[in-house]
Amino acid sequence: RKRVGVLISGRGSNLQSLLDAAADPAYPAEIALVISNRPGAYGLQRAKLAGVPTAVIDHKAFPDRESFDAAVDAALRGAGCEIVCLAGFMRIFTPGFAEGWAGRMLNIHPSLLPSFIGLHVQRQAIEAGATIAGCTVHFVTPDLDAGPILAQAAVPVLPDDTEDSLSARILEQEHRLYPAALGWLAAGRVRIVGNRALVDGATAAGDLLS
Ligand code: GAR
Repeated sequence: RKRVGVLISGRGSNLQSLLDAAADPAYPAEIALVISNRPGAYGLQRAKLAGVPTAVIDHKAFPDRESFDAAVDAALRGAGCEIVCLAGFMRIFTPGFAEGWAGRMLNIHPSLLPSFIGLHVQRQAIEAGATIAGCTVHFVTPDLDAGPILAQAAVPVLPDDTEDSLSARILEQEHRLYPAALGWLAAGRVRIVGNRALVDGATAAGDLLS
């Protein structure tokens, strides 16, 4: 099984979906380490309950991004991580860190990229009048929310949606999508061709998520 480091900043519901998937011995990845940049992140409790080692690397304790990223990198490598999953991790990495994990670092983002990057993207979708929203699992590159797209799931935007109600509908899909996408990467089924991530053995999206 591939050793995975998960980076969080808060609630950790996506972390939970990965922990739950990895509880199955047949799943091709195991969660080896959970790192939070915030000491009080609830996701740290989730990791402890699952018996997974945790580390707090508080960005406020570092003079600059380079030294923070170096500490995160050292912790991941020290734990033997081969893949990194960002799960509600709200810091932007230096280009050097992203390049060091190129092709091995995933993020989940609560919009259908390339639409709506940055913060409050569910609200951005409502304000733009979108009728379809969703989530994206993509490879992390130095450009924010711009790496090769590995998987997406769509949900409707309903007329009476608020930021909260749409976020909840998208989050349900996030919890299905991220474990599936990490499983493909950990199983060695993903090839990156230009800006596209192709999943070997898949002929349609239906094959991927069934
Ligand atoms: C999720 O909706 C995730 O997609 C989003 O933050 C939330 C974290 O929830 N991530 C981003 O916006 C990254 N830019 P969680 O802590 O319960 O997984």
